[in-house]
Amino acid sequence: MDHFNYAGGVLHAEDVPLPEIAGRIGTPVYVYSAATLTRHFNLFRQALAWTDHLVCFAVKANSNLAVLRLLGDLGAGMDVVSGGEYCRARAAGVPGERIVFSGVGKTRDEMQSVISGGIRQFNVESEAELMALSAVAAAMGAVVPITVRVNPDVDAMTHAKIATGKSENKFGIPIARAREVYALAATLPGLRVVGIDMHIGSQLTDLEPYRAAYAKLAVLARALRADGHDIARLDLGGGLGIPYRRDNAAPPLPMEYGQVVRETVGDLGCEIQIEPGRNIAGNAGVLLASVIYLKQGEGRDFLILDAAMNDLIRPAMYDAHHDIIPVRQPVVGAAVSPVDVVGPVCETGDTFARGAQLPALGQGDLVAFRSAGAYGAVMASEYNTRPLVPEVLVSGDRWALIRARPTIEEMLARDSIPAWL
Ligand code: LLP
Repeated sequence: MDHFNYAGGVLHAEDVPLPEIAGRIGTPVYVYSAATLTRHFNLFRQALAWTDHLVCFAVKANSNLAVLRLLGDLGAGMDVVSGGEYCRARAAGVPGERIVFSGVGKTRDEMQSVISGGIRQFNVESEAELMALSAVAAAMGAVVPITVRVNPDVDAMTHAKIATGKSENKFGIPIARAREVYALAATLPGLRVVGIDMHIGSQLTDLEPYRAAYAKLAVLARALRADGHDIARLDLGGGLGIPYRRDNAAPPLPMEYGQVVRETVGDLGCEIQIEPGRNIAGNAGVLLASVIYLKQGEGRDFLILDAAMNDLIRPAMYDAHHDIIPVRQPVVGAAVSPVDVVGPVCETGDTFARGAQLPALGQGDLVAFRSAGAYGAVMASEYNTRPLVPEVLVSGDRWALIRARPTIEEMLARDSIPAWL
């Protein structure tokens, strides 16, 4: 459920008509709903209410400071994968003890600044990282809480580019070698083992891969305890999918996911940590765009929007589907016809949808891409020197610009021409 609905014939974000935002900010623009973000975060908390837990929002999904502030104020922890994301979480007011640091390629500089800023745990992904972290922490006189990310070799049955839990993926330590790596960790200065970490992929629409992976995790947790390690915390990653198509069967709900967690690892008495990103932010955002032209092609029509692949890259990158709907509600029974929805960027990959069934739309009409709150704005670029897409947050009948669109002058001012040219 989200808070983007038609009222009085116009699509609203909560109580704000989207044409009002388009009129003031221009398009393209991302619009987020505070009520939807809050609702989805709370669903995860309820799903884990049976145990000690921390829901860490995966900052990579949407790293706007206002979004992080909202979730942080609700009590969310943050899962960060770079020094930059760590700074964002801190700037949003989230204390270090609620931030976990994940990622396969943490640099020594990042380790140092995160340790001095305060951190809940590092999720370590390799022996080489373990050694580096130990050296950095010991040199600082610090003892850093760690988990090791284990790769359970489970097929998450999702898009190949976002599956992470198979042995051929670059993530984590093969679960079969985990005991060795924990044994090594126990000998290294500056590290304190606090638990185990796992993340098997993104946009999972079936709970069975989770069940299989978490069952392996439970076996490992017992073995590690028998080896003398303190396994008090399990970080189970993120990945629960969202419905991108309204007409498809919906993926499992957080509550059902929480049940699988309880059934597989609930009896270990561990604190449970999860890192959902998409499920909290995805359906809490739309990308609002305007029609520039309707172009009649050979046997097909093209709806050319002012949003492009640089603003929302998911269709080009993952063949992802986003429902595209008109902001003016079509009258009941209005005729629809197939149209290719494209952006102005000069490559064929800049296609959002082929043969989308849409009512007649023309220049200046507004459309909204649904489910664009996660991995939308964060993956945007200025390709084709198109200004980075702005973001707006709505709460009830209030709304605010939370990232401004840069001017072309500002964009050009970031380049410099060497004196010798
Ligand atoms: N934890 C770790 C270690 C991750 O790598 C990820 C996502 C998450 C948590 C959050 O997963 P989520 O709950 O959002 O599924 N750009 C792609 C998605 C990449 C996901 C990468 N890792 C997309 O647009 O589909």
